Amino acid sequence: MIDIGSDTVSLFGNDASLEEIVWIGPQPTLAELGARVGVTECHPFSKLEVMIDEGTEIGRSVHFLPPNRAETILKAEKLLKIPSSDVEQCVSQELIRAVIEQRLLKSDEEVAEIEKALEIAANMHILAMRMSRPGMKEQEVVGAIDGLVSSQGSELAFPIIFSKHGEVLHNHQHGNVLEEGDLVILDAGANSLTHYASDITRTFPIGVPFNDRQRQVYETVLRAEMDGIAAIEPETRFEDVHLLACKRLTEGLQEMDLMKGDVEESVAAGAHALFFPHGLGHMMGLDVHDMEGLSEDLVGYGDEAERNSQFGRSSLRLARALKPGFVVTVEPGLYFIPDLIDQWREENRHAEFINYDQLEGWKDFGGVRIEDDVLVTADGHRVLGEPIPKQIAEVEKLSST
Ligand code: GLY
Ligand code: MN
Ligand code: MN
Repeated sequence: MIDIGSDTVSLFGNDASLEEIVWIGPQPTLAELGARVGVTECHPFSKLEVMIDEGTEIGRSVHFLPPNRAETILKAEKLLKIPSSDVEQCVSQELIRAVIEQRLLKSDEEVAEIEKALEIAANMHILAMRMSRPGMKEQEVVGAIDGLVSSQGSELAFPIIFSKHGEVLHNHQHGNVLEEGDLVILDAGANSLTHYASDITRTFPIGVPFNDRQRQVYETVLRAEMDGIAAIEPETRFEDVHLLACKRLTEGLQEMDLMKGDVEESVAAGAHALFFPHGLGHMMGLDVHDMEGLSEDLVGYGDEAERNSQFGRSSLRLARALKPGFVVTVEPGLYFIPDLIDQWREENRHAEFINYDQLEGWKDFGGVRIEDDVLVTADGHRVLGEPIPKQIAEVEKLSST
C-alpha cells in the first residue's frame, strides 16, 4: 500500500507457518522480503483491511489496478466492500495512467534485463534451427526449447508458437510431423530471472534450403522488418512504421504477381491485410505485450491516437509516437490463410489490388514472420540482444546442414 497522505509504503502478508515450512521449506520472512525492496513497514495481511477501513472512514480514496486473477477480485470485494461484479468498474483510471507512464520508459537496468531474456531466446531459436529435421514431430522441438529455458532457471515469456502451419498466427498445436521442405515459424521468448520478457520470431525451412517461393516471401518480410526497424526513432509514430512495412510487403507481393495497382492506394484501402492481418508490433517489458492488462488502448494509443477500424489496422496494438526508452517489437509477416482467401475472393474484396487467380496455387504455402525487439534511443534505435540469424544464408546454414 502506498499511502500518499502520510508518504509511507507498507507491505502486507503472512510469514510461512511451521506446517507450511514442513512442506515447502524455510521461506524468507515478510520483513526480509520488504528489506529487499526498501519497505520497512511490514504487517500481517489482516491489517490491510483495518488500514483501508481507517482511510475510507476519514474520506480518503482507494486507488487500485485491474485485478488479473479471479481470487484477487474476491479479495478486493472483501477489502473494499464492493460486490465482486463491480470491482473491475471501480479500478482507478488515474493510477492506471500513472503506472503506464512510468513503465513505458525503460531504464538502463530494465533494458539490461530484457537483454538477458534475449540471450535465452537466442539459444532457443538456434537450438530449434539446429535440431528440426524431417521426420520429427513439432512437439519434440517445442519440448527441447522449453527444457532449455527450464534448465536456465527461467520460464517462457508466453506459450511457444511453433508450426509448419505458420498461417495460423498463434498456433499452439504442435502435433504435425515435419517434412523435408516444410517452412516453420518459431515465435518464442523467455523471461529474465526478474521477469522481463523477450519475444523473437524466426522462420526456417526443414532439411533443405528455401525453395524459390519461400525465398521470395521471406525476402519480402525481411525487407519489411529491416526497413521498419530502420524507421524507428523518437517522435515517429509507430502507426507510420506499420504502414511503411505494409508498403514493403505490398511491393513484394506485387513482384510475386499476387497483388497489383498503386501501392499507396492499396495500403490505404487495407488490401494487404489479406496477407498481413495483424499489427507490426507492441510494447514489451515485464509483460510480453507490455501492460495490456491495464488497457491496450491506453498503452498503445494513449490520448494521442485513435484505433483504426479497418481489418488488419484494427489489430495494431501500438500506434503512438515513439520516445527514447520505449522497447517495441517489429514483427511483419505474410500468411496464406485459405479460409480468408476464399472469403475475400467470394466477396471480390479489393479485387483491383489482388490477383485472386494467381493466389489459388498458394493456399498451402503457410506463413513467414520475422520479429526482433528494439529499443528507441535518443538518436534512433538499437536492436536488443546479440543478433539472431535471420539472413537467408545464415538461417540455411543452421537449419539445413
Ligand atoms: N508472441 C506473440 C507476439 O509476437 O505478439
Ligand atoms: Mn512473438
Ligand atoms: Mn510480439
